[in-house]
Amino acid sequence: MIITPRVRGFICLTAHPEGCEQNVVNQINYVKSKGTVEGPKKVLVLGASTGFGLASRITSAFGANAATIGVYFEKPSAEGKPGSPGWYNTAAFEKHAHAAGLYAKSINGDAFSDEIKQKTLDLIKADLGQVDLVIYSLASPRRVHPKTGVVHNSVLKPIGQTFSNKTVDFHTGNVTEVSITPASEEDIDNTVAVMGGEDWAMWIDALKAADLLAPGATTVAYSYIGPALTEAVYRKGTIGRAKDHLEATAFSITDTLKDLNGKAYVSVNKALVTQASSAIPVIPLYISLLYKVMKAKGIHEGTIEQIQRLFQERLYTGGEVALDENGRIRIDDLEMREDVQAEVAALWAQATTETLPEIGDLPGYKTDFFHLFGFEVEGIDYEKDVNEVVEVPGLV
Ligand code: NAI
Ligand code: NA
Repeated sequence: MIITPRVRGFICLTAHPEGCEQNVVNQINYVKSKGTVEGPKKVLVLGASTGFGLASRITSAFGANAATIGVYFEKPSAEGKPGSPGWYNTAAFEKHAHAAGLYAKSINGDAFSDEIKQKTLDLIKADLGQVDLVIYSLASPRRVHPKTGVVHNSVLKPIGQTFSNKTVDFHTGNVTEVSITPASEEDIDNTVAVMGGEDWAMWIDALKAADLLAPGATTVAYSYIGPALTEAVYRKGTIGRAKDHLEATAFSITDTLKDLNGKAYVSVNKALVTQASSAIPVIPLYISLLYKVMKAKGIHEGTIEQIQRLFQERLYTGGEVALDENGRIRIDDLEMREDVQAEVAALWAQATTETLPEIGDLPGYKTDFFHLFGFEVEGIDYEKDVNEVVEVPGLV
């Protein structure tokens, strides 16, 4: 079929298999161009199909020649119904990994559930024996708690007081004022239940109990801090509470891994356009100004540049892993540079519907958004009839 974007707000209902494949190939080529990382050998990636998780899987495989198992929650493709982008991304990744002689298998289902955990443990036991790196990169609006059955929905709200600031509709470029009322205690608890560290710890406990973690095993989850501009709705809001919990969980997981000489890290990453971040109010305006400033300075990075640098310059240098005063890895260093933040703050004050085309990188934001779904990718003929039904070769 001929597949065109069908956009509804901050999601796109369709995805293009060839565009998604080209994105994956571009990421593979980038990782290869940076040379070999003396990195992990057997890797489990939770949230492996898009965003930072996909980049982690690609970097493990094509940077370190690692065997990878990916877990994700995606919509398969069917006749007349394109799959979700993560479905096509994984199909492409596994095709190219297998062609390169790399082990790559995947499991599609709810990673929060006991069932998918057990299925993953069985696969590791049968095929890999143990893993030496576990990447935790789930981003979800909802979690069914495996022990209580309670459905937790995460919210993106400030805490304590109403937050009012500018926001942009990235499709139209309209800059408006948004007001978000404060979260209830229940909202906070629910957001922590979805995006905090409990599920990460459950995964590590289950892997360890089944003796599936290699000596010296490492596990990494991703966090975000960001600037004062977005603090009320991000780091000091409900999602920030969840990130506080995730970061604290790294320390308790490290305790769990002591006898294996293993370690849990949180890496603080840069703000980027992903399916998760485009849903957060205020963030798209911030990102469009940030992109403008970072591109002008020649220091812009996407997910693959971020994760390749995380592996090569932080996790697998052969020496100590550099940490901040709170024990976190920082690859948001370029975003948080003083000159970058000062310029973004100045632009923020000037941002209106009229000025944004000049001072912001809305085209860059939009291109990245469409890229997430395999659209507007260079070299792809979107007039062409493509086969929308694509198999994921390593799907278990
Ligand atoms: P994403 O939306 O691109 O990826 C989410 C992944 O989780 C996908 O592979 C999806 O299939 C999987 N997933 C969601 N629910 C699932 C479930 N129930 N079971 C199994 N898999 C499930 O998100 P992104 O942006 O890559 O986020 C990953 C992590 O990085 C999150 O912790 C996020 O907070 C963090 N982060 C994101 C930043 C950004 O600007 N996008 C910045 C810094 C950190
Ligand atoms: Na991800």
